[in-house]
Amino acid sequence: MPTLYYYVPVQAQRPIYSYRLSIVHFWALIAVYMWAGPHHLHYSSLPDWAQSVGMVFSIVLLAPSWGGMINGVMTLSGAWHKLRTDPIIRFLIVALSFYGMSTFEGPMMSIKTVNALSHNTDWTIGHVHSGALGWVAMITFGAVYVMTPRLFDRRRMFSVGWINVHFWLSTIGTVLYIAAMWVSGIMQGLMWRAVNDDGTLTYNFIQELSERQPFYIVRLLGGVIFLAGTLLMAVNVWRTVRGDRDDNGDLNVLREAA
Ligand code: HEM
Ligand code: HEM
Repeated sequence: MPTLYYYVPVQAQRPIYSYRLSIVHFWALIAVYMWAGPHHLHYSSLPDWAQSVGMVFSIVLLAPSWGGMINGVMTLSGAWHKLRTDPIIRFLIVALSFYGMSTFEGPMMSIKTVNALSHNTDWTIGHVHSGALGWVAMITFGAVYVMTPRLFDRRRMFSVGWINVHFWLSTIGTVLYIAAMWVSGIMQGLMWRAVNDDGTLTYNFIQELSERQPFYIVRLLGGVIFLAGTLLMAVNVWRTVRGDRDDNGDLNVLREAA
């Protein structure tokens, strides 16, 4: 969140949409998040009432989460054209979108009847990575691209084209990862709960595991694509720090080192 509140205005060259909302956002997260913890302990030995409290607070958590997301997105209002030319802004905005998506999915998964299906399945892993890859990693990449030229007195990153390629690699990688885990997780949950007329389980563990194999291959593919993007970023950062001429062939120096 601090990354959002600092780097989105810096890169968009616009003030935060609402400071008031950012304060409300901060205190609402502080107040609500700690009561939401029991959503990780659904269907455990935790007393049932405590699980229900966790569920209610998790649903309430949607509001402050989306308040923060909207504050970030609205900071760009009036500057939407920058999305066409600046891949760094694209990183930041897509990260915010994934944040919105995972903080919508989370409250849904915290509902006990939904969690009865999702708990301990790949669905949780998909949710984790829509937060971890889509939000945390992508906002971090955006921040690295904003920060690196400033830290080393460069005019810009070595290659803006590469940032664009990285943007697409990480977006496609994330989508492949989480879509594979949704399908795999929901299938896993349904197979676990399937029972025959005589009350015995329809599928054994090995049947359920082998059905998931194709989705693990898709996840692997998504992960490799995502990783390729981060390697491209590493080279881009390295060539920026080294002060190579940028991809237009221009000197990439703000001022000579003393
Ligand atoms: C309103 C916001 C959110 C809510 C209410 C929420 C809710 C949930 C729920 C219900 C689960 C499944 C627990 C289970 O069945 O075991 C879960 C798992 C998880 N969530 Fe979220 N989530 C939210 C946002 C996020 C975000 C933004 C991230 C990451 C940046 C995240 C990271 C995780 C992780 C790592 C797990 C797996 C924990 C484990 O190892 O069991 N969540 N969340
Ligand atoms: C190319 C990128 C990535 C790949 C391929 C990947 C893959 C995986 C795999 C295979 C698991 C084990 C899931 C399971 O138990 O079935 C996992 C778990 C996890 N990963 Fe990632 N990961 C990636 C990036 C990240 C990033 C960037 C973060 C954090 C910012 C992250 C956070 C987590 C967490 C918290 C778990 C534990 C989830 C749980 O057990 O509930 N991952 N990841």
